[in-house]
Amino acid sequence: MRLLFASDFHGTHAFFEQFAALGKRLKPDVLLLGGDLFSNAAPVEDGPASQRRAAEGWFREWCEAAPAPVYWIAGNHEWRSVTDPPAGAGTYAGERVVPLGDWDLVGFSFCSPTPYWLLDHERPEESPNRHEPRFRCYASEAGVPAPVEDAEAWLAARPTLASLLRALPSPRDWRRTVFMAHNPPFDTGLDLRYGDRPVGSTDILQFILARKPAVSLHGHIHEAPLLTGSPMHLVGSTVGFNAGRARDRLRALSIDPEHPADFRLHAD
Ligand SMILES: [Fe+2]
Repeated sequence: MRLLFASDFHGTHAFFEQFAALGKRLKPDVLLLGGDLFSNAAPVEDGPASQRRAAEGWFREWCEAAPAPVYWIAGNHEWRSVTDPPAGAGTYAGERVVPLGDWDLVGFSFCSPTPYWLLDHERPEESPNRHEPRFRCYASEAGVPAPVEDAEAWLAARPTLASLLRALPSPRDWRRTVFMAHNPPFDTGLDLRYGDRPVGSTDILQFILARKPAVSLHGHIHEAPLLTGSPMHLVGSTVGFNAGRARDRLRALSIDPEHPADFRLHAD
């Protein structure tokens, strides 16, 4: 089983094209995308519909032409409107178990609170590790965006990341499972921000330490692998990855989950 993983394209079509071209060359078994795939540059009022049109349009066409099956999750830049994608738009793996041959993929799209304005995929932590100020936020209900004046109250009324993680369906064997969550685990090197500040999720860290998937894949903090010098960091016995994002060139990881330490970083 050969995985080709990248994340955080944020609607940049050149990255999708380069990722497909790399897949054509390397011939992996699957392409994995770890969230924050779509642009949300559209006006907020059109945000959910705009991303939905992207999922039904160019993204579906890209998946259908891709050199291997595409599996993906959402991130905190996605509205919920994309998480029941139309047929052909790859396989949405958020909050479900998807078999990849004799391996399983478990996906998780929810994130701990950020300073960003979109709340759809944010949930509170059972064990919060920081508190950042927020201004006006937005969330959608049935595809309709609405302003949220009090983000903390909105979050407090929702289930914690830990409870959502506990509710995930179980794979056949965590030792032969790839866990893909947009949000990296806290203070692991996968979540380092500028200023030497870890900003990952404590709940996701505890979940990985308890379940011990063979491999975990993350995005969200674009600069982490650039700051630590490596896209790979151990999370207990799990081999964790964050490919990162550079401004003008694709960063992708080729990983055999049987031998994850032998990964290849493609950054050209
Ligand atoms: Fe993100």
